Amino acid sequence: MSAPADSPIGVFDSGVGGLSVLRALRACLADERFIYYADNAYCPYGGRPDHEIQQRAEFVSKQLLQKNCKLVVVACNTATIAAIAGLRQKYPDVPFVGMEPAVKPACAQTRSGVVGVLATGAALSGDKFLRLVADHARDVRVVTQPCPGLVECVEAGELDGPRVRGLLETYLAPLTAAGADVIVLGCTHYPFLRPVIEQMLGPQVTVLDANAAVARQTRRILDQFGLQAASGGGSALEVLASGESDAIKGFLPLID
Ligand code: DGL
Repeated sequence: MSAPADSPIGVFDSGVGGLSVLRALRACLADERFIYYADNAYCPYGGRPDHEIQQRAEFVSKQLLQKNCKLVVVACNTATIAAIAGLRQKYPDVPFVGMEPAVKPACAQTRSGVVGVLATGAALSGDKFLRLVADHARDVRVVTQPCPGLVECVEAGELDGPRVRGLLETYLAPLTAAGADVIVLGCTHYPFLRPVIEQMLGPQVTVLDANAAVARQTRRILDQFGLQAASGGGSALEVLASGESDAIKGFLPLID
């Protein structure tokens, strides 16, 4: 049995990226309590083999469930692609909500017929991602771009500056050269770079992330399981980390 409705929602990522999802979750679910786990001793997940990401996702989920979480949001595209099926199998009574890069809305919105996706290499090569593209991009060309180094910049609190702009120039160039007019942020760290990305791309390119959609999906699942917290309970947040927690605390003002 999953935990009762007044229990917290667990949210995890390899680091601070999932805080961009937490921001959307709190906006959508004002009465819920949250426990956020940053697995930053193992960040980035993106360069790791699937079995290591699965091990970490299981370990972190176990920590959250021991804290009595009623639902777990896997606020990481890489962990969702590599590990969510295994988590659902291991904990069949616990609802898990995962990330899905916004490929579907991007394909509906593109006028040029070309969509770009920025994500980690591990996320872009996962079967779940390849199926998503095969299902929704029939008449649309999807150009993918792994972005090594970006997650590390965000973890270091570097949200603009020469290093970030240099990496972004390299990663955005092939997408714009291919004619992409919609760019999907397929890693939960990247919304923290959104202002720079939008500025570099200009107004003719639309930038999408999946955070609001994932928050709405979480609300639907809570409803479906009768797990919505009673109103007026407040929206407390507990933050846990496998590594240094100061970096996480530095991000909290950004999500208020
Ligand atoms: N925030 C992550 C994602 O959405 C993980 C990035 C990483 O640790 O490489 O994929």
